[in-house]
Amino acid sequence: MNQLINKVKMLEFPKFVEKDEDGKWGRNFIAITDSESIPFEIKRIFYIYGVESKELVRGKHANRKSEFVLFNISGSSKVRIISEDSRMEVYTLDRPNVGLYLPHMIWKEMYEFSEDSVMMVLSSEGYDAEEYIRNFDEFVHEVHAMRHGKYKNREKRKQTVKWRRKEPCKLSTPS
Ligand code: TYD
Repeated sequence: MNQLINKVKMLEFPKFVEKDEDGKWGRNFIAITDSESIPFEIKRIFYIYGVESKELVRGKHANRKSEFVLFNISGSSKVRIISEDSRMEVYTLDRPNVGLYLPHMIWKEMYEFSEDSVMMVLSSEGYDAEEYIRNFDEFVHEVHAMRHGKYKNREKRKQTVKWRRKEPCKLSTPS
């Protein structure tokens, strides 16, 4: 089971509909406050817009460190995420108050941008080209390596606990 892909989720933010003093002209208002609902401290915001063709596919990468929340604050797009075992999920972004949270090490592809699409991306990290994995096989390899590392650490922890548990036994044994 891929733990990281299970952390992917849609985040919905409250939308306020307000009218002017005369009650004639309305407007919508959305506030995104990181401390309340974004699962990381925002270090970078960028936009993808002016996409000229429905054929365009962006992304096609995973990030070693960065976590993201993607919004279509105008228009619509789709986001395809793929796990290292080729499990695929597709999300549609078409509401300015709904964002898609992606943890690190998720393979992502953004596509089917509408003409008026403005995709706003919040990120937990500044831009660093070195933390992008742009080859799917390399991504799969690194996810497996990451898991293996975690597994080894868990084994080490077990050994430490075992060793500690021996201590009281030693003390209670008469010399
Ligand atoms: P890329 O990550 O390929 O964009 P996308 O995720 O939309 O496919 O980035 C496209 C180019 O823009 C690439 O040359 C790096 C640059 N870039 C920055 O300089 N800063 C940024 O924050 C981002 C996201 C990209």
